[in-house]
Amino acid sequence: TASTLELAARIAAAKQILGSRAVVLGHFYQRDEVVQFADFVGDSFQLANEAKAKPDAEAIIFCGVHFMAETADLLSRPDQAVILPNLAAGCSMADMADIDSVTECWEQLEALYGTEPDADGRVPVIPVTYMNSSAALKGFCGEHGGIVCTSSNAATVLEWAFQRGQRVLFFPDQHLGRNTAKAMGIPVELMPLWRGNKVGGGNDAQTLTDARVILWNGFCSVHKRFTVAQIDKARAEFPGVRVIVHPESPMETVDAADESGSTDYIQKAIAAAEPGSTFAIGTEINMVQRLAAQYPEHTIFCLDPVVCPCSTMYRIHPGYLAWVLESLVRGEIVNQITVPEDVAVPARVALERMLAAKP
Ligand code: 13P
Ligand code: SF4
Repeated sequence: TASTLELAARIAAAKQILGSRAVVLGHFYQRDEVVQFADFVGDSFQLANEAKAKPDAEAIIFCGVHFMAETADLLSRPDQAVILPNLAAGCSMADMADIDSVTECWEQLEALYGTEPDADGRVPVIPVTYMNSSAALKGFCGEHGGIVCTSSNAATVLEWAFQRGQRVLFFPDQHLGRNTAKAMGIPVELMPLWRGNKVGGGNDAQTLTDARVILWNGFCSVHKRFTVAQIDKARAEFPGVRVIVHPESPMETVDAADESGSTDYIQKAIAAAEPGSTFAIGTEINMVQRLAAQYPEHTIFCLDPVVCPCSTMYRIHPGYLAWVLESLVRGEIVNQITVPEDVAVPARVALERMLAAKP
């Protein structure tokens, strides 16, 4: 439509004036109208690294969701402004764990397991937060000997954690935690879901005593929709189909798929495939549709027949991108994301541990 073209022209014009003063980072789930203006597109791990690489820009316009922009602020230079084009672009999974509930959980776990290390020097519990969490939770991990992970390094990070702790408290995404720990050989029975160790809602004492990974009760509303039935249907209709799902999908779905991996993993798997391959993908629809258009030599479709966008990623409308860029042209910084220093200092500790953790 005219307005889409008009917005594209406005964004291009503002970018041209700003030149290297502004860099636009975009997550794979962003719509095409936004992705076309991104100077770098990637998964959440790559985007964190890109911010840490400290591009020669005064402003980093982050086309993604709030926790990603916070991470960019934590890792970028203090004089760089990180801008989230629409402040309402959050993540419903990240909102499922807040600092007060995690602190309360932590206190209950300390009461249960104590705080003394074992003979090997391993503390009772290491907190691990998925990147998809507030800066406050990353700060909590920094302060309590813990670490951050993304979907592309979760196994490496869990190994790091088990070198230092007897068990892990993993939040907010139960599925990434369960899928990763299971792939590392930890039996599912040793992964209770945290429901509050309270009368009426809790796990029994023995379950918690034996626990290796205590999973927070969070999930992604996009990825929880992918099912074994969808995979069975895809296999019936397309014999030889390669099924790849994001590890935020439920365990049964990941088990039934051929592979699971981060958005970058999915992209690379498709890029490296023999022409004429067929892929059924379990991740966000904007990304799947873009891959299908980008690789016409393959057949690529989303496992879920009902269009399943990440509604908050989708809140980065090109109109907002035009607005923040034009504001910059006028010398105005709008929608800046700034993590307060008292949270930022420990949050950086947890992020730097992640960036330093090696497989
Ligand atoms: P990636 O780390 O794979 O980019 O995933 C981010 C995300 O929000 C998936 O839902
Ligand atoms: Fe959050 Fe899920 Fe959207 Fe990723 S896809 S940003 S986890 S709601």
